[in-house]
Amino acid sequence: MEKIAIDTAGTKSEILVGERWEKAGALLPDKGVIIISDDNVFRLYGDKFPPFPVFSIKPGESSKKLEVIELLAERLLGAGIDRSGFILAIGGGVVCDIAGFLASVYMRGVRCAYVSTTLLSQVDASTGGKNGVNLGNTKNIIGTFLQPEFVVCDPAMLMTLPDEEYLSGLAELIKTAVIGNEKLFGLIEDNHDGIISRDRELLEFLISMAIKYKASVVSEDERETGLRRVLNFGHTFGHAIEMYKATKHGFAVASGMELAVSYSFKRGYLEVSEKERIIALLKRFDLLRYHDIPDNQLYQYIVHDKKKSGSEIYFVFASGIGRAVAEKVPVSEIFDFYRQNRKDRKNRSL
Ligand SMILES: NC(=O)c1ccc[n+]([C@@H]2O[C@H](COP(=O)([O-])OP(=O)(O)OC[C@H]3O[C@@H](n4cnc5c(N)ncnc54)[C@H](O)[C@@H]3O)[C@@H](O)[C@H]2O)c1
Repeated sequence: MEKIAIDTAGTKSEILVGERWEKAGALLPDKGVIIISDDNVFRLYGDKFPPFPVFSIKPGESSKKLEVIELLAERLLGAGIDRSGFILAIGGGVVCDIAGFLASVYMRGVRCAYVSTTLLSQVDASTGGKNGVNLGNTKNIIGTFLQPEFVVCDPAMLMTLPDEEYLSGLAELIKTAVIGNEKLFGLIEDNHDGIISRDRELLEFLISMAIKYKASVVSEDERETGLRRVLNFGHTFGHAIEMYKATKHGFAVASGMELAVSYSFKRGYLEVSEKERIIALLKRFDLLRYHDIPDNQLYQYIVHDKKKSGSEIYFVFASGIGRAVAEKVPVSEIFDFYRQNRKDRKNRSL
């Protein structure tokens, strides 16, 4: 088991990688705890949850909305949870985003922690203190920052994940490798079979590498005023694909990365060999999905993106394998790039 610390202004958060999730109960206060989970996770693991009331939500992205927060807040109130309360999320990125948001606004803030149950949330969503819900078709547009006191990442829980969910998480692992750790990228390339067979020791090692990178970025720039922007690699187009096609987050980010890599090459940030190496890895794990977003829809998604300011948006370019930069780019240029790329793809498939 490895403990990775995140140090931000005034708070300390500890990520426990390889800890058995059943031990989370020992880290909780004796009373005032509420567990938030989803119906799938509760069905699989509920009989071993710590002995506190459980509020279980409908699984999936459609639960990430204000109505669900309101409903849960009413239930916390009904259960007599006051400012000394503690919310434990047991679930994937959706449950952690919801529980973290709720914990940061309920009575202006209560304590919280996560047991992170998907690959996507272990390598990314549960680390870093960002949380949020969607507003209609716009992703994560209402949110706060709150560092959970601890996060347990137990790779044993990943054995029950459906293949699609597991692969979706792999995309965020590859994202971390592309933007921040060439060694991790090489390990993913070299361990295809071990990753597909979910070798537990290998996974623990890879997850811990990804979290260490994210922890170092978040410790330096919790509020995303600079360095942290690079974590959005693949997400400008990815969020548009996710919302337009209801594609799972990781697959949408993978396709967003393919576009970002081609754009990085076009802008001179990447060598052709680096571009091809990254796209080959995404293809090898079958992470790319077809997308063809019409102009008017794409425009809506991009203008509502949180990374936009005025007529420009911070776009993240890969500047090598293991390196990235965020640069302000006119929205119109991004729009033109997608259009041209769509045309090229159509021509190639004729
Ligand atoms: N806050 C952040 O920094 C951040 C970063 C990346 C992604 N996200 C968000 O994370 C969300 C995606 O997270 P996700 O992919 O974990 O989705 P998810 O939470 O919806 O989980 C995916 C599915 O797997 C099921 N599941 C969860 N754990 C399981 C297990 N151990 N065994 C079997 N089934 C299990 C869930 O019930 C669900 O059906 C998106 O909303 C995305 O925006 C947030």
